Amino acid sequence: MNKVRVAVLASGEGTNAAALIQYERTTKDCPYKVVCVITNKPNAGVLRVAEEYSVPSFFISFDNRAETDIAKDVLMHLGACGAEFICLAGFLRKIPSELLQVFKEKIINIHPSLLPKYGGKGMYGKNVFQAVLEGKEAVTGVTIHAVSAEYDEGAIIYSERIGIDEDETVNSLAEKTKRVEHRVYPEVLAAECGRIRQISPI
Ligand code: GRF
Repeated sequence: MNKVRVAVLASGEGTNAAALIQYERTTKDCPYKVVCVITNKPNAGVLRVAEEYSVPSFFISFDNRAETDIAKDVLMHLGACGAEFICLAGFLRKIPSELLQVFKEKIINIHPSLLPKYGGKGMYGKNVFQAVLEGKEAVTGVTIHAVSAEYDEGAIIYSERIGIDEDETVNSLAEKTKRVEHRVYPEVLAAECGRIRQISPI
């Protein structure tokens, strides 16, 4: 069975992108293949990750442009790579509505908290961990969800809890959370892609 062709959209370091690619390359019968990386940041670390793994990568500016122009650009690159599914991995811009329509139910995101808690605008990077600690939570986690028009909304596909230690810091929580993300995101993506392939085998 052919693999589902996945595009990764990321704005940052790209450790999740790396985990997705590594899993694909080391797992027998992995049902997906990362065919491109798209970023909105010209210096994003994820570009180096793409280079390291020889995955085609593209920078597309999301700044001061009409949403329809951005969507056209992204769709052109996705089309050229034959992408069928999109994984957001630390992508900090809203997904244009046209893209949501074309990739209906085929875009997922990972968030470093137990949504709906600590999600939404401004809740990214260390802000999330800071807010979790300030909220005196005993437990946090990661959430993988379908992407909708609003930040961090959309049906929850998977979540996993992470305990917070008494001496937890923003950095230690960030590290712990990343470790969980790197394990669960590839597995959930593989499960989603396996499901898609069963519905429409190619
Ligand atoms: C991750 O924590 C993810 O949950 C969030 O953005 C971060 C991306 O990190 N959406 P990286 O660039 O993959 O290291």
